[in-house]
Amino acid sequence: MARRGPAELLAAARALLPRASAPYSRFRVAAILEDAGSGSHPGVNVESASFGLSICAERAALFGALASGASQFERLAVVSDGLHPVLPCGACRQVLFEHAPDLALILERADGTPEEVPLRDLMPRPFTDFKPKP
Ligand code: THU
Repeated sequence: MARRGPAELLAAARALLPRASAPYSRFRVAAILEDAGSGSHPGVNVESASFGLSICAERAALFGALASGASQFERLAVVSDGLHPVLPCGACRQVLFEHAPDLALILERADGTPEEVPLRDLMPRPFTDFKPKP
């Protein structure tokens, strides 16, 4: 599949917004995680009545992608039906960084144009020192 331009990737993410389940915040978020082979992995936020169990669109996309066997993630487009640009929360930044430190975030500026932000720019001093014991 040909690599999509950033505006096209954002449009594809926007088309996913109706799948978000956000009855409590009414803030729908959708993400598309793209791998090196242009494989496209969707995610939306899904909220629970027990609020803390809710999941953000970004982690939903990553976890689904990993479950499908994908790797080598290159770009993550994120949109919402409210605020723009919507930047990944701290928890998502950490988890994304662990799997794709060189990820490029494709965000939507307030005027609708795409903006590319390296995840690394949002993680100046990441938590990376923990190494599981053999
Ligand atoms: N949310 C995301 O899905 N991604 C973000 O980057 C920010 C927040 C969700 C979590 C919750 O369902 C709603 O947006 C309001 O915080």
